[in-house]
Amino acid sequence: MPRKFSVAAWGAALFISWNAILLLYLMSRSHGTDHSDLTAHVIQMAEAAEAELEKQKGLLQQIHYYSGLLNRQPPPLYDRPPPVKSPLPSNASSFSPVSIGSDPFPSVIPIIVVACDRPSVRRCLDSLLKYRPSAEQFPIIVSQDCGHEETGKVIDSYGDALTHIKQPDLSEVAVPPEHRKFQGYYKISRHYKWALNQIFRTMGYKAAIIVEDDLEVAPDFYEYFQASLPLLIKDSTLWCASAWNDNGKEMLIDPGGSSLLYRSDFFPGLGWLLLQSLWEELEPKWPSAFWDDWVRRPEQRLGRSCLRPELSRTRTFGRKGVSQGQFFDQHLRFIKLNQDPVAFSKMDLSYLLKDVYDPWFIEQVYGVSKVRAEEVLQGQVPGGRTVRVEYTTRDTFKAMARAFGVMEDLKSGVARAAYKGVVSFIHRGRRVFLAPPKDWAGYDPSWT
Ligand code: UD1
Ligand code: MN
Repeated sequence: MPRKFSVAAWGAALFISWNAILLLYLMSRSHGTDHSDLTAHVIQMAEAAEAELEKQKGLLQQIHYYSGLLNRQPPPLYDRPPPVKSPLPSNASSFSPVSIGSDPFPSVIPIIVVACDRPSVRRCLDSLLKYRPSAEQFPIIVSQDCGHEETGKVIDSYGDALTHIKQPDLSEVAVPPEHRKFQGYYKISRHYKWALNQIFRTMGYKAAIIVEDDLEVAPDFYEYFQASLPLLIKDSTLWCASAWNDNGKEMLIDPGGSSLLYRSDFFPGLGWLLLQSLWEELEPKWPSAFWDDWVRRPEQRLGRSCLRPELSRTRTFGRKGVSQGQFFDQHLRFIKLNQDPVAFSKMDLSYLLKDVYDPWFIEQVYGVSKVRAEEVLQGQVPGGRTVRVEYTTRDTFKAMARAFGVMEDLKSGVARAAYKGVVSFIHRGRRVFLAPPKDWAGYDPSWT
């Protein structure tokens, strides 16, 4: 701050003195001129003034340039992380509640842990408690479904460190016969509805972070969400912040990119923050099953985006779950958990607001040269350079995604981690944008 100020002050001083010198000079010249010289003199003065204006313009440009260098916020460069990085605060004293207008806004963000019958919820709770900066600011509420006694005991063993609530309806859900094997998804959906109603209606919280029982969290999990909250409040085109990068495998991420954050049109779930207002919107039409894919549909998403990190702030250890373990073995277990804490709440994250982010994003993606996928894959493009690889059809997208090792599945036409159709990742040390043509018309939900 002081450096910034001194540059501006120096600039202003220079500017003023230059003008003063000019004025004195012109005044001294106009003394003692007689009438016949007047026309020539006026022309001379005009020329001098013109030259002067040029000089001043140059001077102003320099001032602008230098103060710009010092004032610049961490630019959201995807080639390298923003420079501002410091260790996590050891306590919550840095916390400042956000407000909307005169309404005091969430100074407390509960963590709602969705549990059922896995005693390994201990691993989830241990990591949540290990990094929690403040019990007051981040109360942990474990909502248990399934009535599983052993799991219940594990949860209760934490005593006052958390609150244990129990979903009361343990009956089988009536499902169409062909959906019998999906009973689990119906129960999950029922549980979510009950638990979120508890949090937002019964307890009246204004925001909450949802964590499933097979997730463990990164050291800066709380920092990330605390810093995301004001962005969600300010920018109505953001409807969630997620801790998860679907393409967050070691091979695909920037190893020094812990502080990198993105907007994404894909709803990642797996540790995510939402506002009460979103719950009020979704609750009346909450689906009886497959809630996450339902959330991803255009009717729910309404063009809104989530924040997501370059390096995930959650990791899943739930190999055996309601869905098959295959997805876990091939994919989920490789997602890298960030270990390099970033003090997000001390950083200016306003670059993630839509108005700022979108023009910058388009410039980043379409300002770099377009190359063919094979050229990148075969190492024919000079090292290190950021490139764009273009896809035009669903099949070319899938083939390229597969070749680069990024997720190829699409939900409601949106690829995992995509923003404006663009999937951004690292391939052998370079940033690659897998992108549609610049005149892209939007997602096509028929792409599955
Ligand atoms: C997958 C998703 C999960 C989503 C779920 C519903 C991944 C990795 N996981 O579940 O985010 O919520 O589909 O579409 O993409 N649970 C209950 N009641 C039950 C069974 C499970 O509340 O009867 C809870 C579990 O405690 C857990 C969550 O539901 O918190 C998901 O269950 P899990 O068994 O982990 O299923 P996934 O296949 O991971
Ligand atoms: Mn799971």
